[in-house]
Amino acid sequence: MAGTVTAAAEVGLIGLGTMGGNLALNIAENGFSIAVYNRTSDKTDSFYANAGALAEKLIPAKTLEDFVAAIKTPRAIILMVPAGEAVDEQIAALRPLLSDDDLIIDAGNANYHDTNRRDAASKEGGPRFMGIGVSGGEEGARFGPSIMAGGPKDAWTQVGHILEAISAKHEGAPCAAHLGDAGAGHLVKTVHNGIEYADMQMIAEVYGVMRDGLGLGSDEISKVFGDWNEGILQSYLIEISHKVAGTADPETGRPMLDIILDTAGQKGTGRWTAIEALMLGTPASAIEAAVASRNMSARLSERKSGQAEFGPAPARIVADAVSAKDLEAALVAGKIVCYAQGFGLILEAAKQYGWDMPLPEIAKIWRQGCIIRSAMLNDMSKALAEDPARNLMLAPFFSAKLKETHGALRKVVALGALNGLPVPALSAALSYFDIMRTERSTANMLQGQRDFFGAHGFERTDKDGKGYHGPWAMNTV
Ligand code: 6PG
Repeated sequence: MAGTVTAAAEVGLIGLGTMGGNLALNIAENGFSIAVYNRTSDKTDSFYANAGALAEKLIPAKTLEDFVAAIKTPRAIILMVPAGEAVDEQIAALRPLLSDDDLIIDAGNANYHDTNRRDAASKEGGPRFMGIGVSGGEEGARFGPSIMAGGPKDAWTQVGHILEAISAKHEGAPCAAHLGDAGAGHLVKTVHNGIEYADMQMIAEVYGVMRDGLGLGSDEISKVFGDWNEGILQSYLIEISHKVAGTADPETGRPMLDIILDTAGQKGTGRWTAIEALMLGTPASAIEAAVASRNMSARLSERKSGQAEFGPAPARIVADAVSAKDLEAALVAGKIVCYAQGFGLILEAAKQYGWDMPLPEIAKIWRQGCIIRSAMLNDMSKALAEDPARNLMLAPFFSAKLKETHGALRKVVALGALNGLPVPALSAALSYFDIMRTERSTANMLQGQRDFFGAHGFERTDKDGKGYHGPWAMNTV
């Protein structure tokens, strides 16, 4: 272990949990020497002891002072500690040891409002601050994640080459990019996770149609997912769904899916996406439905009482009422809507904060390394490069796909409704599609109601100007 300390490390990392440890090994493997520190030093010891040949690139430190002293100036320090208070505490502990030239990088799943706040505080004095979203789970952290960076440009100049080197590569191009100032990286990671929730939920919904509607067994369902992974839906989430459905429980021999309790957990980033969409006034209904579905899934005892009270839904549908092709097409349509909403949300946040966010670049760095990586992201990056401000549904490639698939989405949602098979995210996607293709909506009724009870005023279809009122005084209710 390092005793007397010379500043030899190109970067430092605090927090040797699974993600932090894997990221440190990834950095070491890419040839950068890295100082590592953990609040509890036995973890540092065991991490160092298990690092094998990569140990020669590691400089483990027992105290924060030694850790800081081991890093070359200007220092770059990556925090991989739990999001929230632990980050603020770690920054507070580091600040007295660092100079204004140094850089703290929060690589956790931070709420981007916290990142904005920490960025603003750093601009008042003290080390610079950067927030990076890192996606790809444990394996991504170790062998190449997708990295969404936000913060001052000079911070990216300092560490961009390290982040690019450790990131996943898509046909040789690094899946890491500087996406804007302050919380831009964490905002994009949050939306990534919101999309992740919706993508997962829609897959779970078609799984439900196959299991409860068509009576397919897990192996058959696994095969369907496997086939889809060869086509337009090719993606990490379809691939793992194929594997999850095809795996048996070693203890009982039964399909794993029959053993796993149906109450979904969440750490909160999907919820943040929904909250953000509501606050920014931009539709993200498929993501909101996915968050609400996880919340409903968690109410198992209520669901049991519901089933006892109302009886189970009819569920079983005639085998040829819906084909695997229909379900695949419904997922394609749902997925396009979900991304249209996600990118719309990013666009809106960028406007609000004055961030110059490269939308095509975001789609590009999601093509590999992250949980939502998929073949379709390549087409999305092309569509966003043509016109980043256009609703993705209107890009020629995706509008053609939607024209081919929205009928199947409608069929699956309708069959779901008629047979009591819940498809909330797919329904939300369909409603979004239907609303966004309707020039004359029903909000004239809302405006009439608002004006009736609150004199809120409306615009007219036949004249310019605002603040018109209806002749409501003549009505009594
Ligand atoms: C990723 C994942 C990762 C994570 C979240 C999901 O991009 O690598 O999104 O950040 O798995 O923790 O969390 P929940 O489903 O628990 O909210």
